[in-house]
Amino acid sequence: MKFFIDTANLAQIKEAQDLGILDGVTTNPSLMAKEGIKGKAAVEQHYKTICEIVPNGDISAEVVSTDFDTIIKEGKVLAALHKNIIVKVPMIKDGVKAIKWFTDNGIATNCTLVFSAGQAILAAKAGAKYVSPFIGRIDDSGWDGMELIHQIRQIYDIQGYKTEILAASIRYPNHIIKCAEAGANVCTCPLDSILGLLKHPLTDIGLAKFLEDAKKFA
Ligand code: E4P
Repeated sequence: MKFFIDTANLAQIKEAQDLGILDGVTTNPSLMAKEGIKGKAAVEQHYKTICEIVPNGDISAEVVSTDFDTIIKEGKVLAALHKNIIVKVPMIKDGVKAIKWFTDNGIATNCTLVFSAGQAILAAKAGAKYVSPFIGRIDDSGWDGMELIHQIRQIYDIQGYKTEILAASIRYPNHIIKCAEAGANVCTCPLDSILGLLKHPLTDIGLAKFLEDAKKFA
């Protein structure tokens, strides 16, 4: 399973990249706004900077229009920023149409805001490179987000769809473990959830003891 970081915060992206386990970055308009990025030029420069920090990863850049012609226009500009940009398109009617157009024209896409198996089938049929089911938001609404990952995995395997399942809206480390068990191809996570995987009290206790004992033969 590939690890993406789900943020537009450059310091956090650098920290995850330095850890050596990062395969890419996802952003969205809310994450960009949180970093105070304002204006088209600043947004485009921010994407370029992220591509430079993670030179071997896929970087999702989201369109903010909802009609076919404008999505295409916007997606072409984003795709031209860097060879690793993946154009992120919402799961709406014109979005599906645009994903098919991008696929036919050699531009890779990430279909975002996916909350059902039916939507995931449409994304795969349109040729999306990634489909992003938002498991945390499904959990927040009282349903089971992980169940959707299992269902999409089963459907994609039976049907032979090549679209990669990019589990999104991760809330805590156990979500990442469950995504790996469910066969997600990618998990995009906040830095806290990635670092949370490191933690175990027995590791801390064991290390303290080893370091203490190491003093005996230092
Ligand atoms: C996915 O690409 C989205 O950016 C993200 O995972 C949404 O997560 P949230 O529900 O925490 O906003």
